[in-house]
Amino acid sequence: MAKTSFSCSACGASFSKWSGRCESCGEWNTISEDKGLSSGGPAKKSLGAMRGKRLELGDLATHEAPPPRTLSGVGELDRVLGGGLVAASAILVGGDPGIGKSTLLLQAAARFARNGLKTIYISGEEAAAQVRMRGQRLGLQESPVMLGAETNLRDILTTLEAEKPDLAIIDSIQTMWADNVDSAPGSVSQVRAAAHELTTFAKTQGISIIMVGHVTKEGQIAGPRVVEHMVDTVLYFEGERGHQFRVLRAVKNRFGPADEIGVFEMTGRGLAQVTNPSALFLSERGTPSPGSVVFAGIEGTRPVLVEMQALVAPSPHSQPRRAVVGWDSSRLAMILAVLEARCGVPFAGLDVYLNVAGGMRVSEPAADLAVAAALLSAREDTALPADTVVFGEISLSGALRPGPQTENRLKEAQKLGFTAAIAPSGGKSVSVDGLALRQTPDLAGFVGEYFGAG
Ligand code: TYD
Ligand code: MG
Repeated sequence: MAKTSFSCSACGASFSKWSGRCESCGEWNTISEDKGLSSGGPAKKSLGAMRGKRLELGDLATHEAPPPRTLSGVGELDRVLGGGLVAASAILVGGDPGIGKSTLLLQAAARFARNGLKTIYISGEEAAAQVRMRGQRLGLQESPVMLGAETNLRDILTTLEAEKPDLAIIDSIQTMWADNVDSAPGSVSQVRAAAHELTTFAKTQGISIIMVGHVTKEGQIAGPRVVEHMVDTVLYFEGERGHQFRVLRAVKNRFGPADEIGVFEMTGRGLAQVTNPSALFLSERGTPSPGSVVFAGIEGTRPVLVEMQALVAPSPHSQPRRAVVGWDSSRLAMILAVLEARCGVPFAGLDVYLNVAGGMRVSEPAADLAVAAALLSAREDTALPADTVVFGEISLSGALRPGPQTENRLKEAQKLGFTAAIAPSGGKSVSVDGLALRQTPDLAGFVGEYFGAG
């Protein structure tokens, strides 16, 4: 009765029949039959048993209590999880190698263990002794976390079935090896199979599973992308090398808002949470100078102030350079085009560099006006009035929109000692004591008022 399926070990595409060449990626001899790890065990309940059963949407609300959650006690982590760890959930934590995923999860494991969850940390990358040494360095030797060093998925599932923990951390999914899949650990088919087994196991056994996934730029080794749709929650751990702080970002969460961020600082004794990221991101800011503008942003439910830095210089190249760190380069191109077309400010023949200070990555459209202000300020060599924050979304017509949560942005700016905010007019009228709100109707008006052109 079981339906056989086949998949390609190179690209992960699945097929209903075998062939010598993958129709999806064109590779030869990469298609093999998928075998479930649990084959030989008791037969799964057939789909037919569900036939005829019908639920009303309203029934669910009355019969099913919300899933229980456990707090780690680290506010920055609990918020990103959507208010703590949900029982029997599957979570992927992705990030560049060396960014601090193992450190984060070992610390989280210790926290959850201390808060009553039976926790097991399984490393496929390091020996148990190494993990223990790291734990000692982090001051976690007293925490009741079980450690395992194992890569064979079947053995891991057997252990989990016997130990029945509440939380299992798998570091990393790329090192896991399912013996029913004929390809090397780290290949797409292996990663997919391992993630599928673990996610299914989490649901059926009521164990929360956190999987670590390395992201590789080359795409040679399977990234955790194939896993994203299988799990409940996808978190990315980001940061720039050379900067101390790291951002844990929810990009998908069935149990809470996506886009939520938690900010941490890497110290000699592991990761410390940063409860006031605005102060940290602005800490290196000197006296206001041309090209520097503070953006009052929102990350998830929380306001965050960051400094946008621009440098505009005559280009020695026939094709001027546009370089961006921490923001979307096509968005920068759009803003340069709108400045040129709607406000008569050309950037032809000029190299443009844009940097979000401190290694933060901003994706909010409301950063548009702050970026435009930084570009204009750099180009005109004129600093914006000191102690001023800027936010607003720019449309292709040059019109401005305030974006969500104006009041939260203003309050955060006021809290950090700013005295004025430049924002689009329109939207709800809000006022915050001690902060002058300077409204500007469109981009051309903004350029005229602050940079005397346009
Ligand atoms: P790690 O958690 O091993 O990264 P990942 O699992 O994402 O590959 O962290 C690696 C880096 O973190 C390493 O370069 C050393 C640094 N680190 C500290 O600065 N302080 C610490 O207390 C620890 C444990 C690591
Ligand atoms: Mg690691």
